[in-house]
Amino acid sequence: MRNPMDISGRKILVTGAAGGIGSAACRYLASLGATVIAADRDASVERIRDDIRSSGGKAESVVFNVADRNSVQEAAAAVQRSFGALDGIFANAGMSYERPALDHSEADWRTVMSVNLDGVFWTVQAFGRSMLEAGKGAIVMTASIAGVKAVRPELHVGYDVSKAGVAHMCRVLAAEWAKSGVRVNAVGPGYTDTVMLAEVGRTQPAVMKQWLDDTPVGRLIKPEEIASAAAFLLSDAASGVTGHLLMVDGGYSIA
Ligand SMILES: NC(=O)c1ccc[n+]([C@@H]2O[C@H](COP(=O)([O-])OP(=O)(O)OC[C@H]3O[C@@H](n4cnc5c(N)ncnc54)[C@H](O)[C@@H]3O)[C@@H](O)[C@H]2O)c1
Repeated sequence: MRNPMDISGRKILVTGAAGGIGSAACRYLASLGATVIAADRDASVERIRDDIRSSGGKAESVVFNVADRNSVQEAAAAVQRSFGALDGIFANAGMSYERPALDHSEADWRTVMSVNLDGVFWTVQAFGRSMLEAGKGAIVMTASIAGVKAVRPELHVGYDVSKAGVAHMCRVLAAEWAKSGVRVNAVGPGYTDTVMLAEVGRTQPAVMKQWLDDTPVGRLIKPEEIASAAAFLLSDAASGVTGHLLMVDGGYSIA
């Protein structure tokens, strides 16, 4: 009997693959034998592909902007021509920023919504189509603690609302696509040890202290811990799970 955690041979798209969580997810999924299609708007994603290949894993890369629906659709068509239907999507690309609510310009609001919310929808719509036609597959989106709780002390209302939108998109699509054999779930990272947060630790130690004090496990989450949660949701071990937001936050959202 196949181990339900076994994702070897599965073709999985990862967006935001040049970043901290996305690159960890690509490496983790490839280490389990999946063929990873590493996607980002940043062409440095090709380095992630090459690293995986040089460690014996299977990876391809594709460059597109999730906020540009035409660019997403063209990439999805090219990936389908090369690989056929995908088995999994980790729609993880996202951006953050800091700004009080009253200082948000229309451009600030539209930019974060177009990447974090529209971008996830365009990705799962374009790349999910072949999975729906095939009647199988799993989708995981990246939400955030900021989508379920008012985080402190940083201010980014647009980011928070975009991530709450991702969590609800996951529930609604899970219900719409349940009978088609495609599951849709989300991961909710807490403060995760990526380059961006390392910078905060160096320049704003009081902010880092507050984050750690508010996180029951008292440490940052490792990108690999988000990756393994996503791998579970992408695997058949989660065959009964759809429409679920799995918080990977060291207890932040329950404290
Ligand atoms: N790091 C954290 O503490 C944390 C916490 C909660 C949620 N998240 C979420 O996790 C996800 C990954 O974040 P990360 O920490 O790895 O950040 P990161 O900045 O290291 O990676 C984000 C990646 O997304 C890519 N990207 C951004 N806009 C894009 C676009 N329009 N089209 C294609 N690619 C685009 C970037 O180029 C980058 O490689 C994001 O959705 C983020 O909001 C992160």
